[in-house]
Amino acid sequence: MMSDERTSRQVVIKPSADGACKYVADLLCGILRDAVEQRGACWLALAGGTTPRSLYRTLADRALAEDLPWSRAEFFFTDERDVPHDDVDSNYGMAQRLLLDHVPVPGHQVHPMPADAPDLAAAAAEYEQTLRRHVPPGPNGLPQFDVVLLGMGADGHVASLFPDLNVLNERERLVAADFIPQLGRNRMTLTFPVINAARNVILLVTGEDKADAVAGVLSDDALSRRRFPASGVGPVGGGLYVAVDAPAARKANLRGQTA
Ligand code: 6PG
Repeated sequence: MMSDERTSRQVVIKPSADGACKYVADLLCGILRDAVEQRGACWLALAGGTTPRSLYRTLADRALAEDLPWSRAEFFFTDERDVPHDDVDSNYGMAQRLLLDHVPVPGHQVHPMPADAPDLAAAAAEYEQTLRRHVPPGPNGLPQFDVVLLGMGADGHVASLFPDLNVLNERERLVAADFIPQLGRNRMTLTFPVINAARNVILLVTGEDKADAVAGVLSDDALSRRRFPASGVGPVGGGLYVAVDAPAARKANLRGQTA
């Protein structure tokens, strides 16, 4: 996994999904604090799906108890389904209900992905321009998030970067939108160039059904890794945190890789 030797990687296994979410909540709150302290703001890209729900609830609870600089955070999304934002399947809608409605972040600092736009290609290009306008560039000139939060599917996809799709090899566009054959639906997604430009990427994976993909992406064998798109995650000069629960780590060979 983690295709760049300049990536500093930490793999952390927690006994339960709750434990993994609490670990990631601590990590995220530390990154938020440090980013605001050092640069006056924090730019985040949030994951969708079901895994982060418990994390977002934990962050919302902490926002009540702790004085964190959420008002200095700017939120984007790693990917989105082709549904309206008030649809039960919307990643933005889920993050809004569980986290964004519970932290004091101004509305103009939250940027939902328009994955249900009639012209998806134009909408993806517009979202890329929004990224470039709002997220300061890193050393390679690309928008540099302080943290990109990712989940992973049982097939090893991250964001909406699914196995065998051309978008896995995208090196120019930062945002892509396309029909996903595995789903029979359209999706909009960040691509690897902007994911791997981040200061930190957090990959949060829980559940027995992810055990094969976790074992594959953490494998020493390049052929095993190549089957899973998550193997393309490797923030160049950045930190990668892989937080998994015991059921998801069950088949992984983690000799000396874990913290
Ligand atoms: C989405 C996500 C996607 C998700 C994985 C894992 O839109 O579904 O962005 O990449 O992280 O599919 O999903 P679960 O967390 O539901 O297992």
